Amino acid sequence: MGEVEEDFSQPVSVLLRKGTAKAHENVEHAPGAAWLARGELERFEYTRFLMMLWHVYSALEEGLDKHKENTVLAPTYRPEVLRRAEALSLDIGYILGTPDWSGHPIHKQLEKAFPQPLTAYVNRLRYLATEDGESSLLLAHAYVRYLGDLSGGQIIRRRIAKSYEFPKNGNGVRFYIFYAGKGEPEAGPSEMKELKEWYRAGMDAGVGDDEKLKAALVDEAILAFKLNQGLFTTLRVPQWAEMSSPNEFDLGVSVPPTPVTLLPPESVRTAPHIVKGQQASFLSRYGLLLVGALLLGIIELFALMK
Ligand code: HEM
Repeated sequence: MGEVEEDFSQPVSVLLRKGTAKAHENVEHAPGAAWLARGELERFEYTRFLMMLWHVYSALEEGLDKHKENTVLAPTYRPEVLRRAEALSLDIGYILGTPDWSGHPIHKQLEKAFPQPLTAYVNRLRYLATEDGESSLLLAHAYVRYLGDLSGGQIIRRRIAKSYEFPKNGNGVRFYIFYAGKGEPEAGPSEMKELKEWYRAGMDAGVGDDEKLKAALVDEAILAFKLNQGLFTTLRVPQWAEMSSPNEFDLGVSVPPTPVTLLPPESVRTAPHIVKGQQASFLSRYGLLLVGALLLGIIELFALMK
């Protein structure tokens, strides 16, 4: 059963949202998620992350293709709108300057030593897609990825494009772009909302009243969130956050490691303004004292001259 004791007569879309709320909160606060969402990962590290996602989506989407006749999966099977593997491949190719990126050293390195969390994620998806696996549970994985992409992904897109200086035409950020259908323009916020509502209705239609399946799907979705959290743990710390060893100051004082108070680049960039502001307040405070002292001196001088 899920993390919360629930009434399983509710639609599966409601149960999934409620049942995974805690898991979502955990993944949202993972340091890797924040680095990614703020576009703080080093460019090649971001590319490596896209490659990991490509392996995940390839396994997921192969499974969904294979089981598209499954009545639980059929109502939300709409590859022309949702499919992400190709978009990820285009982004990776754009960043690396070659559409054939599989032989690139970053990918070779990744394939040579698949991080354990990536192996666990891909293996789970492949297992569910086998004949012995429970293909209906792929719905939980599709829900976690696609609804996540249709939700927070849009804010991330702008940050990523800015951080890595991608052009405005969508190159480098195809992964975050959806189209409501073939030949349709890029989906905006209202189309995204409609897509999410359509997806929820499709899940509800596919799962129907099967309470045992609903419970299993909530459990599987919680697992999917944990597997995503696992991917974040494999990310290399961005340079700005690497100062976890004791810092020696000029005074000869050794400051113990400060785990969470490190400033992200943006705050570092704003630091000069803070310093300027401090200078201004120093001048205004002590400047007034000086003017006051000067005035007193002049008054005393006049008094002496009388
Ligand atoms: C920085 C990290 C993240 C932030 C700030 C974030 C933010 C959000 C927000 C604001 C929503 C609600 C959108 C709405 O109601 O329309 C949402 C929904 C969702 N997010 Fe995230 N998210 C993050 C990471 C993730 C990750 C890593 C995943 C999974 C891989 C994920 C999966 C989901 C899902 C499945 C939903 C839809 C919930 C539902 O309505 O059933 N999120 N997210």
